[in-house]
This record gives sequence, structure tokens and C-alpha cells, in this order.
Amino acid sequence: METTKIASYDRLSELKAFDETKIGVKGLVEAGVSKIPRIFHHSSSNLANPRPISSSVLHLNTIPTIDLSGRNFKDAITRKNVIQEIKDASENSGFFQVTNHGISLDLLEKMRDGVRGFNEQSPEVRKQFYGRDFSKDFVYTSNFDLYTSQAASWRDTFICFMAPNPPKPQDLPPICRDVIIEYSKEATNLAEFLFQLLSEALGLNPNHLNDIDCSKGLRMLCHYYPPCPEPELTIGGTKHSDSSFLTVLLPDLIEGLQVLRDGYYFDVPPVPGALIINVGDLLQLITNDKFISSEHRVLANRATRARVSIACFFTTGLRHNPRMYGPIKELVSEDNPPKYREITIKEFTTHRNAKGLDGTPDLPHFKI
Ligand code: OGA
Ligand code: NI
Repeated sequence: METTKIASYDRLSELKAFDETKIGVKGLVEAGVSKIPRIFHHSSSNLANPRPISSSVLHLNTIPTIDLSGRNFKDAITRKNVIQEIKDASENSGFFQVTNHGISLDLLEKMRDGVRGFNEQSPEVRKQFYGRDFSKDFVYTSNFDLYTSQAASWRDTFICFMAPNPPKPQDLPPICRDVIIEYSKEATNLAEFLFQLLSEALGLNPNHLNDIDCSKGLRMLCHYYPPCPEPELTIGGTKHSDSSFLTVLLPDLIEGLQVLRDGYYFDVPPVPGALIINVGDLLQLITNDKFISSEHRVLANRATRARVSIACFFTTGLRHNPRMYGPIKELVSEDNPPKYREITIKEFTTHRNAKGLDGTPDLPHFKI
């Protein structure tokens, strides 16, 4: 009893000391640590890596790469085929990659450079943005669930709330301000296009998902995964599903993202120029489990340079949004009754934030 108490007090003060540096995991790497502090040590169950038997064959089917033809399909058949591919992927794993998505590769590179640039600025500059008030338009933090998770992850993140009410440009850091604004517009256009195809994949009017505001809110999570000196002891991001309708992820060519399917982890293979798209919990809820929001995680970075990724979460999160969301009427029937009650996005997000990324799913809490 007494030992547990002492151990947990130690942990809390170590978490606080880390948090108070205000320069995240990158700060530890800058200080030259060769062993990771024990607050980052994960349990063996978190670190376990069950692999599919013939991974090279299976993962290709699990996370397909879909060519969006620059969002301008040459004929109706090509368009129909793409919708079918998106439908299959959304039903099977909820994950797919897109190429020829219409966002210039140059902008993708500039966005990754912007995130890298922010995190590689001097500690004095970074510190000014660091905090845990997630209601702010811009916040730089390390481990949003630092004090509630079992172990910390080898990752720093800055979060920008871009829509429905865009931040004042002066509230964004000068080093990546312009590119954040430009990329968020482009990512929103792409998401609106994807929501049209997803609506059709569900047999709905193409505007359905946009009309119910699925693309109205945008929370951008810009992750920085520094190289980890002991990657076998920690994780870059623990297992979770996304609390969005849809996530558009701009990945790095350094791998690390894994999707959990049928008890196995499938690596998402880096595809140059591609964006990773995944169904979030809110889309699973409104489709009454037709489309699935798969759990995924990120391994600690084993490379010698930092891994950067930008996740655009389409959701209004904790922002004011009175709209109620439940399974879409057209998708339910006597044989397929609604599995979830109607909720607001705020209710969903509050539940999620209180719980943290503890490895258990959030959706069951809202089941009827
Ligand atoms: C996320 C996420 C994956 C990555 O932000 O929810 O899963 O590769 N990110 O950073
Ligand atoms: Ni995620």
C-alpha cells in the first residue's frame, strides 16, 4: 500500500517537472538524454506488437491506396469505381490512402517543414506557446493526457482550431502561420470532396454529410515525434480511435503508424505524396456502425531524424455546436435499428477528454 503511494507521488512530481520545462520531449532530446525517463516507460501489453501471419499480402487489402484523379474523374464509371473502393475501405478498416488528391506536393512539404520549423525553434520561443488550455485557438503541448495516461508518449503536439471560427493570424506562431492557414483551406476542400463521395457510398444524396456539417469544424493536430533513444520501451502515440467524423492525415515517410484489425497491427506503408484518410468515431456513430473507426497507434520513432505528421480532425470538438447527431434516419430500419442515442459533439468530446487515450473505445458509452 505504502509503496504504491510513494511510487505514484514520485510519478506525479516527475510529470510536473517534465511539464514545467514547457519544451516537451524535444527538450529532453536537446538535453542529450540517452535513456528515456521512467514516465515514458509503457507496460508490456502496450508495447506488444501482434503481427498478421502474412503481413505483406494482407496489409495491401486492409489499407488500400485510392487514386482520386485530381478530383476530376474522366468518366462516370471511374467515379463509381472510386466510390466503391472508398465504401469497401470504410467498411473494412476505416482506413485508406489517397493519391492525386488535388493538394500540391509542394504545399505538403511546406506544411511538414512548418511543423518541423516550429518544433526546432529555440526553447525560449517554444515555451511561450506551451500550455494545457485546450480551449485556446493555438496550444503547444506534450501529451494532452499527460496526467491521466498510464505512461507518457514520445511525442509533442501543437493544436490549432481552424474552423468554424478561424483563429486570428497573430495568435498563430509566425514561423508556420501562413502555411497553416493555406493548408487548412486545402485540407477542408479535400474533406468536403471526400464527404460527397462518402455520402454516395452510403446511398445518400452527395451533399448529405456536408449539409449536416461534418466538414464544419477543423481541429489540426501537428505532431512531432523526436528520435527516441530507447524505442523498444515507449510508444509515439498510444492506441486510440479518432474522435472526428473524418481525419485527413499528412504523414511522414518515416513509418510508425499501425492500424489494429482483428487483433493484429498492420503497418501503414509510406506512399510518397499520399494522404491517409480514416473514418472517425462520429462517422461510425452516424452511420450506425456501417463505416468503422479503427483503433491505431504510432510506434516510437526509431529513425535518426524527427517524424512529423499533421492530423486534420473534422469535428467542432468542444466548440459551440447545438446540432444533435445520431444514426442517420435513411440508414436505419426495423432490421437495423439505431445503435446509438443522439448526442452533441461536445458531449462526445468531453467524455473522450476526461477518459484520455486509455486504450478503451469511447463509442460503447453512447450505445442505446
Ligand atoms: C492522430 C494520429 C497518427 C500519426 O493524430 O490521431 O493517429 O501518424 N496520428 O501521427
Ligand atoms: Ni489517430
